[in-house]
Amino acid sequence: MAPTDVVAIDGPSGAGKSTVARLLAQRLGFAFLDTGAMYRAITLHFLRHGCAPAMVAGESDRGEARMRAALATASLELAPGRIALDGVDVSADIRTRDVEAQVSAVAALPFVRAAMGDLQRQVARSGPVVAEGRDMGSVVFPSARWKVYLDAAPEERARRRCQDFARQGRQVSEADVLAEILQRDRLDSTRAAAPLVRSAGALYLDSTGLPTETVLGRLLAFVRGEADGA
Ligand code: DC
Repeated sequence: MAPTDVVAIDGPSGAGKSTVARLLAQRLGFAFLDTGAMYRAITLHFLRHGCAPAMVAGESDRGEARMRAALATASLELAPGRIALDGVDVSADIRTRDVEAQVSAVAALPFVRAAMGDLQRQVARSGPVVAEGRDMGSVVFPSARWKVYLDAAPEERARRRCQDFARQGRQVSEADVLAEILQRDRLDSTRAAAPLVRSAGALYLDSTGLPTETVLGRLLAFVRGEADGA
């Protein structure tokens, strides 16, 4: 049976999904699933095993055998706002630019998506979850009771990302971040496997210019049945 007690939140990078999804999960008493963090952790694992896509592009099978072998040995543990790889917290390590440069290519690999989807459904089978990513409503949880597409203007997403970087002590130009965001949007929306799409029936929410509290309030109202997906 496909899990149904799921708030599936999809949208492009920097739309504010993680922050709002984590708060929503807290308020509802649901588990929280940051699926982008899972793809980032697997990318870090591939980088550490010397088989990230850019490192294996010249190999006959484009490194698939080595990536499959590395994937089979990866152990992920999820906690709200944290992720551990092989027993070690990698929550900060998955936010580096090395990971960011490779993660879209990793997330485009069907065998990686199949493994992540299985893990995500396994979590959702043990209780209600707020799950955020790109294919939550379309592929992983098609029977989710609540589906949301959270969007924001690219310039605002770049500004938020720069603020995140500044908090991590990294100074990056907004123009560079905007270019990277547009490039990742293009890769995530045009790939063959589970591209970013707006699922039918999903509540569309544009968070441009809205404080987190306002977005959270709208989502709580949606889940509590005070609004519908129209
Ligand atoms: O949300 P994020 O920036 O942490 O996501 C990192 C990458 O993972 C991004 O390139 C899109 C991809 N991703 C995906 O393909 N499917 C998901 N469910 C979540 C993230």
